[in-house]
Amino acid sequence: MSMLSKENTSEIFEDIKRNLTRGVKDRKHTFHTPVFCNVDNENNIESRVVVLRQFDSPNMVLNFHTDFRSPKVFSLQQNNNSLFVFYDHKLKIQLRIKTISTINNQNKVTEEMWDKTKLFSRKCYLTEKAPSSPTNLPEDGIDESLGGKEPTFEESEKGYKNFTVVQNQIKQIDWLYLAASGHRRLKIIIEKKIPSFQWIIP
Ligand SMILES: Cc1cc2nc3c(=O)[nH]c(=O)nc-3n(C[C@H](O)[C@H](O)[C@H](O)COP(=O)(O)O)c2cc1C
Repeated sequence: MSMLSKENTSEIFEDIKRNLTRGVKDRKHTFHTPVFCNVDNENNIESRVVVLRQFDSPNMVLNFHTDFRSPKVFSLQQNNNSLFVFYDHKLKIQLRIKTISTINNQNKVTEEMWDKTKLFSRKCYLTEKAPSSPTNLPEDGIDESLGGKEPTFEESEKGYKNFTVVQNQIKQIDWLYLAASGHRRLKIIIEKKIPSFQWIIP
């Protein structure tokens, strides 16, 4: 880790952006798999691990992929308030990032990302029943003919209608740095892409 100052707000902000960018590219980085939270239409809190697929640093947008039929898509359409939690043990940094989510399905955004998706990854979108459907058997929901193998391009294309890109516009970042010498905590509010900073007691 660099000898980055943990007292300089703009350096901290730059470091956050660098780590989110690394989280997308480096599959071994802990920021690759944040916890994403939202509320369902009965106000129950829902959290799950997702793969961070893109970080648009100039626009402060975090993206992940999902199946259109999954319950979180419907919930986010009703209430688009969401939250990511990241933690890195080595960096000693927790990020809690409040976002506003937008669902993309069968549009320009999904078209572009689907083209970049590997055949094997497309398999996730080929379950016959919707994700979260009950089933009598312990199964992955994918037709037996595709068991253990990569789908052909034609087979994989059936998944496109389910492929969904969730874009999450960052509103606020709660940065927490744990250090024996004294913890530090910074609230960063992003308005019209401009950050403003407020130190807070950890
Ligand atoms: C390492 C890991 C990565 C995951 N990545 C994703 C993902 O990118 N998108 C996704 O929808 N689910 C992903 N999941 C599965 C979710 O955690 C969750 O089980 C699933 O999406 C169902 O959530 P829901 O019932 O809230 O819709 C991942 C799970 C793990 C363990």
